[in-house]
Amino acid sequence: MNTNLTFHDHKPGALSLQDAVVNGLSKKQKSIAPKFFYDQRGSELFDKICKQPEYYPPTIEQSILSENVDEIANLTGEGRILVEPGAGNAVKVRLLLNSLLPSAYVPMDISFDYLKSVATHLVNEYPWLRVHATCVDYTHSLPIPDLVPDGPRLLFFPGSSIGNFERDEAGQFLSMIHEAIGQNGMVLIGVDTKKNETILNAAYNDEAGVTAEFNLNLLLRIQKELGMDFEPDNFKHNAYYNKDAGRIEMYLVSKKKQTLQINEHSIFLEKDEQVHTENSYKYSPDEFISLSVKNGFEHVKYWTDDNSLFAVYLLMSK
Ligand SMILES: C[S@@+](CC[C@H](N)C(=O)[O-])C[C@H]1O[C@@H](n2cnc3c(N)ncnc32)[C@H](O)[C@@H]1O
Repeated sequence: MNTNLTFHDHKPGALSLQDAVVNGLSKKQKSIAPKFFYDQRGSELFDKICKQPEYYPPTIEQSILSENVDEIANLTGEGRILVEPGAGNAVKVRLLLNSLLPSAYVPMDISFDYLKSVATHLVNEYPWLRVHATCVDYTHSLPIPDLVPDGPRLLFFPGSSIGNFERDEAGQFLSMIHEAIGQNGMVLIGVDTKKNETILNAAYNDEAGVTAEFNLNLLLRIQKELGMDFEPDNFKHNAYYNKDAGRIEMYLVSKKKQTLQINEHSIFLEKDEQVHTENSYKYSPDEFISLSVKNGFEHVKYWTDDNSLFAVYLLMSK
């Protein structure tokens, strides 16, 4: 038992898969929220997506972070409490730890088994680091465990996960972050930019079919956890850039007319009917800075790559 590691389970999962699936599939535009992608297999598949050559965001975001980590550390100062909602494999935070020297690290994730194994590896790799792994649904709250000492906070939110929120919800989430980090709090956030749609469409339709497998895994999860009676092969992946809305839209498409049975609920799908599973909104720097300023932050600085494919922003609580 490593004393530098504590676990905090806010039990985000139990209440919702059945409700979310039945409610979401009963709407006119059927939908299931993207947070349900992440069971253990979903988390592993997301890691695999990050290795696909077409999926540019992780590579570019990591190089922006590595190239600018000294400047980031100068601007934030050392010793902050580092909070990371949706920490996933915690690969990106490793690029920061030795420069930011946080007094504690609070990775938060909805996928608890995965979070446990990632946090355990992290404390072994960084024996000086105190890690408070917190299983929570960050769309509801950002609870910092009581054990975490007082001190200025830095919230790290990479991977353009902010793009999964509707634009108004992204503003509300920034306000929630503002409240969670308090006075002198800072935010380091990675956000995907608007760009040529060929690049965007390829990124969400990789040739190896991993994004498709990730999307379809949602059905396997539902089948496994809810015992829903249907044939996952009767669905296919569809993702495309909706330029007017400035977002990638992802769907599971019913290949045929079919009825899904979830306990007493029968859900009917037409052939080619689409179940919406994810949006990924893209932001120009002006749009994102304006959104953060409206929701309680001052923009300190942003960094981008030579082709402006991705941007990392540092914000300060006003
Ligand atoms: C797109 S991945 C990004 C992972 C990592 N931050 C990165 O940049 O590579 C999203 C991560 O957030 C977690 N996640 C998704 N929705 C969540 C939610 N509502 N609450 C907590 N964690 C969530 C997933 O389990 C996954 O690890």
